[in-house]
Order: sequence, then C-alpha cells, then structure tokens
Amino acid sequence: MSIEALLAQRMARLKSSAIRELLKHSKMDRVISLAGGIPSDALFDFEGLNQATQLAITEQPKSAFQYGLTEGSPLLRERIVALCALRGLKTHADEIVVTAGSQQALDLVMRATVNPQDIFVVERPTYLAALQTLELAEARIMSVSSDENGMVVDELATLLETQRIKGVYLVPNFGNPSGATLSAARRKQLVELAARYDFIIVEDDPYGELRFTDERHATLYQLAKEAGYADRVIYTSSFSKILAPGLRLGWAILPEWLLHKVAIIKQAADLHASSLSQTIAEYYLGLNRLPAQIEKIRQAYKVKGELLSSLMEKELGGVITFNQPKGGMFLWARFRQEFNTTDWLQKTLEQGVVFVPGEFFFAEKPDYSTLRLSFATATEEQMHEAVTRLRRTL
Ligand SMILES: Cc1ncc(COP(=O)(O)O)c(C=O)c1O
Repeated sequence: MSIEALLAQRMARLKSSAIRELLKHSKMDRVISLAGGIPSDALFDFEGLNQATQLAITEQPKSAFQYGLTEGSPLLRERIVALCALRGLKTHADEIVVTAGSQQALDLVMRATVNPQDIFVVERPTYLAALQTLELAEARIMSVSSDENGMVVDELATLLETQRIKGVYLVPNFGNPSGATLSAARRKQLVELAARYDFIIVEDDPYGELRFTDERHATLYQLAKEAGYADRVIYTSSFSKILAPGLRLGWAILPEWLLHKVAIIKQAADLHASSLSQTIAEYYLGLNRLPAQIEKIRQAYKVKGELLSSLMEKELGGVITFNQPKGGMFLWARFRQEFNTTDWLQKTLEQGVVFVPGEFFFAEKPDYSTLRLSFATATEEQMHEAVTRLRRTL
C-alpha cells in the first residue's frame, strides 16, 4: 500500500500548487515579478503600525496576549462596522466574525454551507484560493463567463433554469484575476435571482476600496438588505490590501442563521483570530490613519496601473488585448490569437520576467491564452524593463 492511501479522498481533488512550482524562481535577483498577488510593502504605513503596536502592548498587554472571543474583539467589530459604513454598508457588530484573513472567512462559510456535490457557481476566471475552499468542501463547481462588467448574470439565469444551486461566489469589485467590476444592473439582477431561486451569494470584497475613480457601486449585501433578502448574502473583506496582510485579519458579515455555525467551525479551527493583531488593528483604526493610507495606496496603484497599461499597449498591443484597470492590483490580458501562456512563461523566465498564466484561474474550460499581471509591487523602472523583456520573447 502506498503511504499516500492514508490521505483523505478529498485531497485528490485539490490541484497541486502549480503556480508555486512555476514561480519558484521568481525570487531570484534578476527576475522581475509581475506575478505576485501581494500588496506593495513600500506603501505600508510602518509609522502608524509601529505606533499602534506600541499602544497595543503597553496599554492593553493583557488582552493583546490573552485568549479572546471566537467572533473577534468587540471593539474591533465596532470599528469594522464604522469602516463598512464608509462603504455604504449598514451592519452591526453582532453580525461580524473577525477571521484570520478573508481567506479563512471563505473557508468557514464553504464548510458551513456546502454538502458534497452541491453546486457552487463561480466566475470564469475566478480567485484560485476560493476554488480550493470549494474543492475542500467537496462542492461541484460550475462557472459562468465574465466580461468587463463582471459575471455574466444572464448566463447564471439560464443555468438556474435547469440546475439547483447552493451558492454563487464572486469578487464584484476589481476582481482577482479579472480586474473587472460587476455593473449596477447585474448586481440587482443577481440579488433578485438569489431571492427567487434561494441560493446564497458569497460577496468577496478585498479590493473595493482600491478604486482609481470616484465611481462606487452598492454592495450586493446592501442591495439585498434593502430588498429584504439580507439573509442570502455573506460579505467578506480584509485588512490585507488596505493595511497589512501579515496581521492576518479579515471579516465576514453573516446572516443570523449562519453566524453561530461559522463561529463553531472557527472555534474548531483556531479558537479566534490573533489577539495581538486584533488589538493592533483596534489602535490603528483609532488613530484614524486608515483613510489617508487607503488614499495613498489608491493613488500609487493608479499610477502603476496606468503605466503598465500604457506600456502593454505600446509594446504588446498588437498581440494582446486587455481592459484598462479601474482599481485593484491586476491587469488581465488575453492574446488575440491562440497562445499558451504557461508555455510562454518558461521563455519569459529565461528573460527574467514572471506573470501568472491564466489557465489556473478557471474552474473548468481554461482559456490558455490569458495571463494575469500584477502592477502592485514592481517599481516603474522594473515595469518598463519587464514589458520590454516580454516583447523580446515573442
Ligand atoms: C479575491 C481574494 N479574496 C480573498 C483573498 C484573501 O486575502 P486575505 O486572507 O489576506 O484577506 C485574496 C488574496 O489575495 C483575494 O485576492
């Protein structure tokens, strides 16, 4: 018997971390990475984080180093309510569970709601690690197309005529990897479908604040609430992209029928999110530095996003199409003609540039001609050099 027969059967469903394999060279000095989905640490507010950390360990050492409540610190939950209000999202502290990043929120929600073979619908393309949570929950994953206006909800409506689905997972603002934002009309349509066909919507919103324009759409959560269907929507978000991912702090807004169940699973998983991180976040939010910090990140990513777009247009516009990013961290591109970007990566790596081939972001029917480029971490000089090198390989 192979020792691997001792693994749970569901592990066979998990795709190996192919991206990690492909990108293991990306840390080499000469390699410029447009691959990572990580925020720029050059923009972290170290001064504010330092101040908040000092305050946490001098003013509240007991609670910072003690066990805490599974749902999260009451003060932090209050502060998250205030943060959500700035997004036009009306909630209460007792609807919030603080999690170890929004990644954990996704995992807990999938575990609490998905039975083996339940259908969960995602966008094509979608966030890879959300697919992993669905695979671990043994969902049957189906996908519908997305375009520059996000998920094509009409396609979902057609699917609903023949399939009973448990839920829809989507990133409605500046999606990872698509960069796309769900239009106002599609938001309304999606919420109406959830009410009509009784499924849940998992609205994953880590990037909504990183807008490059003043345009802001109502959250699905808020739309559902106003229509009397708030119990259908789970909203997740995070401090990772607006403050610091190393704190590992995110949150979920959960309907009453689900909150307690999620809390029980969280208890089994890790009891609660780090007390130290939560206390630091409480103080940081109390310092009122976050609005300026978000503004700083927005401006910096906007400049970088515009630069990468213009370089791509100039150097590769003849062979690649893409939409100009309007927020977030990613530029999603597609070759005009069939072209395998995973194969191409081997060549670009030799030239010292890495990106993420698009195929990994598809639950089914992968489009091999696509790729995701991140503009968050590379410097402007590196972006110039990277795009020149990319062109050289073609
Ligand atoms: C769409 C999306 N959701 C969730 C996450 C998880 O982030 P975190 O766990 O750091 O909050 C990420 C991280 O990149 C993401 O891109």
